[in-house]
Amino acid sequence: MVIATMTTVPISLFHFLLLIAAICFTICYANSNVRCIHSEREALLKFKNDLIDPSNSLSSWVEGGDCCKWIGVVCHNSTGHVHQLYLAAPLSPYEQSALGGKINPSLLELEHLSFLDLSNNNFSSIQIPKFLGMLPNLMYLNLSFARFQGAIPHNLGNLTKLQYLDLRCNERGDIKATSLQWISGLSSLRYLDLSNADLSKATNWLQNMLRFQPNSSWIPPFQCRNIYLAHWHLGPKFPQWLKFQKKLSYLDISDAGISDFVPTWFLNLPTQFYYLNLSCNQLTGGISYLNVTTTIDLSSNRFTGPLPRVLSTLGLLILSNNSFSGSLFELVCNSSLTGMSALFIDNNLLIGEIPDCWKYWEYFAYLNLANNNLTGKIPPSLGYTNPCLLNLRNNTMFGELPSTLQNSSRLLMLDLSENHFSGSVPAWIGDKLSKLVVLSLRSNNFDGHIPRKICDLQFLQILDLAHNNISGVIPKCFNNLSAMVATNKTNNKLSSSYFVDSLIYLKALLVLKGREDEYGTTLGLVTSMDLSANSLTGEIPKKIGSLAGLLSLNFSGNLLTGNIPYNIGNMELMESLDLSMNRLNGDIPSSFSNLHFLNHFNVSYNNLTGKIPTSTQLQSFENLSYVGNHLCGPPLTKNCTSKSIPTNATNNGRNSEGSKVNWLYVSIVLGFVMGFWGVVAPLFFIRSWRIKYYRKLNHIYDKLYGFWATMSM
Ligand SMILES: *[C@@H]1O[C@H](CO)[C@@H](O)[C@H](O)[C@H]1NC(C)=O
Ligand SMILES: *[C@@H]1O[C@H](CO)[C@@H](O)[C@H](O)[C@H]1NC(C)=O
Ligand SMILES: *[C@@H]1O[C@H](CO)[C@@H](O)[C@H](O)[C@H]1NC(C)=O
Ligand SMILES: *[C@@H]1O[C@H](CO)[C@@H](O)[C@H](O)[C@H]1NC(C)=O
Ligand SMILES: *[C@@H]1O[C@H](CO)[C@@H](O)[C@H](O)[C@H]1NC(C)=O
Ligand SMILES: *[C@@H]1O[C@H](CO)[C@@H](O)[C@H](O)[C@H]1NC(C)=O
Ligand SMILES: *[C@@H]1O[C@H](CO)[C@@H](O)[C@H](O)[C@H]1NC(C)=O
Ligand SMILES: *[C@@H]1O[C@H](CO)[C@@H](O)[C@H](O)[C@H]1NC(C)=O
Ligand SMILES: *[C@@H]1O[C@H](CO)[C@@H](O)[C@H](O)[C@H]1NC(C)=O
Ligand SMILES: *[C@@H]1O[C@H](CO)[C@@H](O)[C@H](O)[C@H]1NC(C)=O
Ligand SMILES: *[C@@H]1O[C@H](CO)[C@@H](O)[C@H](O)[C@H]1NC(C)=O
Ligand SMILES: *[C@@H]1O[C@H](CO)[C@@H](O)[C@H](O)[C@H]1NC(C)=O
Repeated sequence: MVIATMTTVPISLFHFLLLIAAICFTICYANSNVRCIHSEREALLKFKNDLIDPSNSLSSWVEGGDCCKWIGVVCHNSTGHVHQLYLAAPLSPYEQSALGGKINPSLLELEHLSFLDLSNNNFSSIQIPKFLGMLPNLMYLNLSFARFQGAIPHNLGNLTKLQYLDLRCNERGDIKATSLQWISGLSSLRYLDLSNADLSKATNWLQNMLRFQPNSSWIPPFQCRNIYLAHWHLGPKFPQWLKFQKKLSYLDISDAGISDFVPTWFLNLPTQFYYLNLSCNQLTGGISYLNVTTTIDLSSNRFTGPLPRVLSTLGLLILSNNSFSGSLFELVCNSSLTGMSALFIDNNLLIGEIPDCWKYWEYFAYLNLANNNLTGKIPPSLGYTNPCLLNLRNNTMFGELPSTLQNSSRLLMLDLSENHFSGSVPAWIGDKLSKLVVLSLRSNNFDGHIPRKICDLQFLQILDLAHNNISGVIPKCFNNLSAMVATNKTNNKLSSSYFVDSLIYLKALLVLKGREDEYGTTLGLVTSMDLSANSLTGEIPKKIGSLAGLLSLNFSGNLLTGNIPYNIGNMELMESLDLSMNRLNGDIPSSFSNLHFLNHFNVSYNNLTGKIPTSTQLQSFENLSYVGNHLCGPPLTKNCTSKSIPTNATNNGRNSEGSKVNWLYVSIVLGFVMGFWGVVAPLFFIRSWRIKYYRKLNHIYDKLYGFWATMSM
């Protein structure tokens, strides 16, 4: 509850500020000394007549009024000509206030118009009108997120005074191949944003590929500071025309089909980039240095060689999914890099140890080094940086968890799986890392018991201790893990309403990997406990059934005895349940017929007896889910006789078939969650990133940012 109320603050505050800004805008700019020009008023009224204005936001636009005082209209303070039309719709959730309908050519009467902002509206039934190219004085044109259909009219190339052109994220669905040659006319351009980040269309993006491949002798007539051309096809050669951009400070040419080396001239451009995004191309070769002041994203390319040298001001470095090799030493132990806050170098070929010089990195928050070939221990100084995310999955690191990690009270996700870490699972995890949502120590050499303190982790949604040497009993207090108890996950840390939208976004991302079908929508709601392949003994605690919010439970491959608790059947959200390869006896409780969502189920190789309860789910699994027991009834062919213990005892050997399936399942779930953090964390961390995504996402990142802000309080 506390979280819910706290996190609503930044949102409403944000809208409040927006409102203030809008009011201030009209008050401060509208000048009461001039009255509007009759013909321009008539033109505006015609323009209004063709608009659909569901929330009547243009109610001040009335016959006979002074149009210079109308909302959104700004006149020149001496001539009275209309200079600016500021008709952007407020950000969602007030989408119903968006303007729609048609744009009347009467707008051309406003000869002096220099500023036109129709962003965030809903012109889903029309194309960008060609006549906009005939507004000779236009300096600022913002049609972003306005849902225009069809191609960008080349006439816009006539706007020789245009400095700001923002057309990002319109629907442009029916463009197969178009050209950007018309921008040759925009000699005054400083800001160009044509990116299309509508990921919901990601599945057929190839078809809709927007092309811009001027020949190598093209010299752009403009000097832009900001260029956003994400998802345009600019390749396969590195765009040569960028060579002539001497003022560039922001460049996004991600996902642009470029398969080439990054040319030396690019690295030496006499310009000061603060943001550079070359991600999702097929760029090759090494990058020895990159002089960018805040954000670098080179992820998902084919870069090789050592990590690039970077400027001391850099805050975010994303190099994921490349083949960078060598050690982290020079980067991390560069004591001048004090502003670094996020480092994503997962899926590369890094070797050596993680150096112990994190003490300089005061603002550090996100570290993902998964899937490299790093070795050695977790350096003690890393704990002091107090990160939110620490992902060292799938390396060859070893040793015990350093006690300095107790200082990482902000940690939301700790993933150390698939390494050779050892020692017992420290009890302080439950005390000191109280914000943990994901704890994965899977596939290491941890031993000892599961500390009861783990039960104090009230936000924990994913607990994965599988494939270790952990012994002892399953703590009876597990029913205190409140995030796993809650079936209504509104109050969970990850799945509070603040994340729900972002999960839709994630789902879209996952379409590319073809996996979203199973878990996309439930991703933020994923709750899973995997203790499989350890040496746990004793009975399954009776109260485990209280974890009614769990979607996946895996206790397979332990030495558990006793009966299956009846109330496991109360865990009605359960999609995957694996109790195979233990020493459980007795019946499968009849309550299991309540598990309507089960799509993976395995109780094989125990000592279970009796009839398999009847339900649509339980009979749908193969015999493999039940073998190695003394069960009868469908789906097994063995009929239940009145008082027999049917099956063959010869089947009682163990094999690993059963647990493999579930291992895969949980890996997928975890993979999703890791992907979620890999992608979303930097997005909400860096505000400038958010700016380039479409409106809905913008809204989400504000939520995330607000969430993060409250988290770190
Ligand atoms: C008109 O506005 C300009 C700036 O936009 C300002 O410099 C000028 O003083 C204003 N003139 C009057 C008469 O208010
Ligand atoms: C946009 O307008 C169309 C009708 O022109 C309507 O069907 C659609 O629901 C609107 N979309 C939004 C998000 O308002
Ligand atoms: C265009 O409008 C959008 C949404 O209102 C805004 O976020 C963006 O900053 C504007 N673009 C420019 C170049 O001002
Ligand atoms: C505007 O551009 C179009 C296409 O680029 C061209 O045919 C037309 O002559 C131009 N109009 C003016 C007034 O320059
Ligand atoms: C490049 O394009 C320009 C016109 O856009 C043309 O004049 C020139 O001949 C072309 N050069 C080559 C090498 O194709
Ligand atoms: C890039 O930065 C390095 C170190 O700060 C400096 O030596 C080099 O001259 C810079 N290169 C350019 C092209 O600015
Ligand atoms: C683990 O990392 C290695 C590279 O060190 C990679 O080849 C392998 O695919 C990764 N395994 C998983 C499950 O991601
Ligand atoms: C990892 O590094 C070790 C030596 O440190 C090497 O033998 C091994 O081949 C490397 N593995 C990969 C996948 O690069
Ligand atoms: C979940 O809990 C919230 C309050 O925490 C409540 O508003 C919402 O209606 C509940 N949803 C369901 C499905 O019970
Ligand atoms: C299996 O259960 C039966 C009783 O249900 C018991 O007699 C037998 O000892 C058990 N076998 C094992 C290996 O635990
Ligand atoms: C099981 O019972 C059904 C009738 O209930 C019968 O048709 C079938 O032959 C029986 N199977 C075996 C293996 O006894
Ligand atoms: C028992 O196992 C033996 C050998 O594995 C097999 O031949 C026999 O058909 C089995 N009997 C039943 C009832 O499954």
